[in-house]
Amino acid sequence: MIKVPLAGVIGAPVAHSRSPRLFAHWLSALGLPGHYVPLHVEGADLRDVIATLPAMGFRGCNVTVPHKEAALALAAEVTPRARAIGAANTLTFDGGRIVADCTDGIGFLANLGELQGARTAHVLGAGGAARAVVHALRDAGLRVAIANRTEARAEALAEVFGATVAPWGERPSADLLVNTTSLGMQGQPPLPVDLSAMPKGALVTDIVYAPLDTPLLAAARARGLRTVDGLGMLLHQAVPGFERWFGATPVMDEATRRAVLG
Ligand code: ATR
Repeated sequence: MIKVPLAGVIGAPVAHSRSPRLFAHWLSALGLPGHYVPLHVEGADLRDVIATLPAMGFRGCNVTVPHKEAALALAAEVTPRARAIGAANTLTFDGGRIVADCTDGIGFLANLGELQGARTAHVLGAGGAARAVVHALRDAGLRVAIANRTEARAEALAEVFGATVAPWGERPSADLLVNTTSLGMQGQPPLPVDLSAMPKGALVTDIVYAPLDTPLLAAARARGLRTVDGLGMLLHQAVPGFERWFGATPVMDEATRRAVLG
């Protein structure tokens, strides 16, 4: 008997996740059987739930806040990038073994397309999202400066990944500016950043995607800077999981963005 492949996203809360829409769109666009479901799981239950999923037909799952570090610890095998980032967002069940990967960093880079010659990056924020972004940028050979409200967190991250620390509030002047903080998100204050020292042709990107056009991106556009919104990172980080669990490469087009924004 053929089992319909299942996958899902584990988090708490998880109801806001756009991933079920994304996977449903790709499955339907490719005419593939399968389902992808939101799984609200509390930390105390994480180990038991993950241990049970393979027998239920799950090929793997995404993991989101607040379980990304705990998920890493449950895996039998961890990819080098997940180990370096210290978090897992993609678990694959491989004959009973849990393989943990972190695709946030490559999703971030894929969303930028190519780095178009950027050699320096200024990263705002030093939380979990910043870890994946800084890892990916350093891996791509950029010099990275990290600025964070709580400077000690920026220092810790800079030390792990070979970056430098910039004061929070300093005018960025890098080829690439990345916001990894929650500022600018719906219900949050806008990011207080002065773009006047950014070089011509610089790229500004925000990992916040609700709203899609954040005050940071609007301010960058108004100065003639190039911008990339954060939705693509969400789409691109999902690709490796989709390929592993459903056996096909998903399409990345405007219809995908519309389906997710719904
Ligand atoms: P995530 O895993 O999504 O990155 P996080 O670890 O809570 O979440 O990190 C949130 C980031 O947004 C941090 O860099 C945080 O700065 P602090 O380390 O100083 O807390 C930043 N952030 C959140 N609210 C902020 C605010 N009002 N002003 C400045 N930075 C803020």
